[in-house]
Amino acid sequence: MKSMSIKVFLVSTLSILPLLASAGEIAASSDTLEARSLVKSFGSDLKHVLKTSMKSGGPIKALAQCNIQAGPIAEKNSSSSGWDIGRTSLKVRNEKNTPDEWEMKTLRQFEQRKAAGENLKTMEYAETVKEGDKLVYRYMKPIPTAGLCVTCHGSDVAEEITTKVKSLYPNDQATGFKVGDIRGAFTLQKIMN
Ligand code: HEC
Repeated sequence: MKSMSIKVFLVSTLSILPLLASAGEIAASSDTLEARSLVKSFGSDLKHVLKTSMKSGGPIKALAQCNIQAGPIAEKNSSSSGWDIGRTSLKVRNEKNTPDEWEMKTLRQFEQRKAAGENLKTMEYAETVKEGDKLVYRYMKPIPTAGLCVTCHGSDVAEEITTKVKSLYPNDQATGFKVGDIRGAFTLQKIMN
């Protein structure tokens, strides 16, 4: 009897999840709207550096540029907005991007939602959490692996790229990704009070 009611609860919860998600879409809070627009500008700043350096000097130069510029680009986007903006992943290249507990949970949730067939383009997750005596609004959005990304994050990375990656990031874990995989996520937070 007990297991029966748990089952019913699970089924009914799972079946309303998509409804909740689409309701969230209509009634996105102003914080969510701001987070989405910050993700767009942060992402396009990063992509600009990646694409222009790949074009002018190939992947080795692009690697060096990502190494030098990823941090300052995140800082620029953070300080101009009052948010804390960064990237994280279940498999990081730069250890500074290691997920905290909440990010880890959210990254796993994204993997589950992807496995259940949800589109990465519209996937996101937001929650207001209590940290000490502060309320913090947290937002994450998955970053899909595109064709361009596997040059440096794929399973068949050229030897000279691997050598350069290892020299910059001896503990690199960010390889083995296929096009369409979740490479990582944008992660944003803002103190509410
Ligand atoms: C030229 C090589 C190169 C290419 C191509 C590349 N990356 Fe990276 N990626 C890097 C480097 C280097 C870092 C570490 C940057 C740092 O020090 O913060 C990185 C870090 C990341 C991170 C932050 C998490 C972590 O692992 O530290 C994400 C997310 C990411 N890349 C996604 C992508 C995506 C998506 C693409 C394709 C659009 C891509 N990368 C293409 C070299 C590359």
